[in-house]
Amino acid sequence: MCGIFGYVGNKECISLLLEGLKKLEYRGYDSAGVAVIDNNRLIVEKCAGKISELEKLLDGNSHIDSHIGIAHTRWATHGRPSDENSHPHTDCKDEIAVVHNGIIENYLQIRRDLAADGHVFKSTTDTEIIAHLIEKNMNGSTSTSLRTSLEEAVRKAVSELTGSFAIAVISNKDPDKIIVAKRGSPLKIGLGDGETFVASDIPALIKYTKKVIFMGEQEMAVVTKNDVKVTDFAGNPVKKEVTLISWDPVSAEKGGYAHFMLKEIHEQPRAIRDTVADRVKDGQIHFDELEIDKKELGKINRVVFTACGTSWHAGLIGEYLIEQFVKIPCEVEYAAEFRYRHPVVDEKTLVIAISQSGETADTMGAVWEAKSRGAKVLSICNVVGSSIARESDGVLYTYAGPEIGVASTKAFTTQIVIIYLFSIMLGVIKGCVSQNESEKMVKELYELPQKVELILAQESKVEALSEKLYKSTNALYLGRGKGFPIALEGALKLKEVSYIHAEGYPAAEMKHGPIALIDKNMPVVVIALRGRRYEKILGNIEEVKARGGYVVAIAVDGDTEIKDKADDIFYIPHTTESLSPILAVIPLQLLAYYIAIKRGCHVDQPRNLAKSVTVE
Ligand code: F6R
Repeated sequence: MCGIFGYVGNKECISLLLEGLKKLEYRGYDSAGVAVIDNNRLIVEKCAGKISELEKLLDGNSHIDSHIGIAHTRWATHGRPSDENSHPHTDCKDEIAVVHNGIIENYLQIRRDLAADGHVFKSTTDTEIIAHLIEKNMNGSTSTSLRTSLEEAVRKAVSELTGSFAIAVISNKDPDKIIVAKRGSPLKIGLGDGETFVASDIPALIKYTKKVIFMGEQEMAVVTKNDVKVTDFAGNPVKKEVTLISWDPVSAEKGGYAHFMLKEIHEQPRAIRDTVADRVKDGQIHFDELEIDKKELGKINRVVFTACGTSWHAGLIGEYLIEQFVKIPCEVEYAAEFRYRHPVVDEKTLVIAISQSGETADTMGAVWEAKSRGAKVLSICNVVGSSIARESDGVLYTYAGPEIGVASTKAFTTQIVIIYLFSIMLGVIKGCVSQNESEKMVKELYELPQKVELILAQESKVEALSEKLYKSTNALYLGRGKGFPIALEGALKLKEVSYIHAEGYPAAEMKHGPIALIDKNMPVVVIALRGRRYEKILGNIEEVKARGGYVVAIAVDGDTEIKDKADDIFYIPHTTESLSPILAVIPLQLLAYYIAIKRGCHVDQPRNLAKSVTVE
């Protein structure tokens, strides 16, 4: 959802800006641009297309000597992707440059007022009005004398904006500082030695520094090479903590893999191990970072998971686990639906918000809604210090490491791991799970990374399967019980990276409609896990076969019954029914990946998508 990067220091900054932007390209890739100040001159270069296009454009600019600059990679909201609509945007005199992530909701009215005052606009974006507002505030009523500092002009401008934004502003009239402001969209400041960085996300910072300030809601900062001064929008100083980021810079590189998605699929054994480690001591589950105490958790009588996309699928698995281990009512809500209904939650409801990025606007809104209604909010996030993590009463981190591929993979499996551990712990607190049972279940989890490795070792089988499927135009994914969310997730992975239309269904629902779609051209992927619904899923396979459908089954090692029924079978190792979704999803991630590659799709940056959806 747009990436912002900024630098102020002693180094020549164009190459730094490009490097930072590349680390943020997963946030949007419709257009890119930079603004730098060279010898009191503001220089802006921008164009439609990916960062590689901007790189070409900047190729002839080696004469620029600049030590301060801002940069942007765009996911278009207002205004089509074009050169003019690319950020940075400037004021009438090209003295102020602004990059923005978010949506300004009242931009039309402001634009009309500014146009009536004589401001001339070059783009059709919501962002450009910010540059003109700052210009107006700096100049006061006359257009020649500068009467207000850049900082004050930005402060005044943001107070007039409704909607969400993270902005970075530079001006050749105040050439040594970047002014940043945040409401609703993520913004971090990286503290180097005699240099300071600004970025939407941590992967862009960790190569340069591990010391990071997380900007809070309605905060702005004056950023210079040696100092960061943070205030609220009213101008009151805000004391900020500096967080030390543990992510290794190498974790934000492809590490020899062709794509981040493939790398991240392969990282799952490590990600699961890291997520479990430290959470289990002497067979007991501990979440040291959890700030909601056990007494309070004991009073919880209902759980509501809220999330979007893949994280919502993890929530669906959570519903099965909470009901099974804790035996209290549990619901799963799309965050955007939950926040705008009139959700009935109270202080005995635990709302669990799941978000890899910790910045998803819909999920953030759901957190605020739940808190305003008195519920306790626990979040499951992958990004330390992210907005959702900070706004929640407690947070449990998945230690997946940076997830850069737009299609979520390792975040999903580690979210399930956290939910599994938390459900068992809550079950113990509530007296529904004995200590002995808890220890046994945790032991199963220890064996999981090795089982994921066994699946990954059979990658070539999935690749061969993709050869048979990649020309399909539609696909159906079916599952029962905990296999149902995996059917949804398998279908989502396929459609987002390969653009093949795919639907996930509870297998029993097939006969209530989707069965009409089945013919020889419709591949049906069936998640055939062992358990009390197994016979029924075999029945569903028969129904598909009877109508000429082509069945790919994900089955458990040693399943001989399925051999004569499915056309192709991928076997996963045996584990408990509760953990089997984690194993079942891995071949489906690989399948989506290889099908997309065969279709020539850009798997790390699928069209129209962006990671970290910070607009509603
Ligand atoms: C799909 C995918 C998205 C995200 C969703 C929520 O592969 O990545 O569906 O799961 O946008 O994002 P987070 O988890 O960051 O809140």
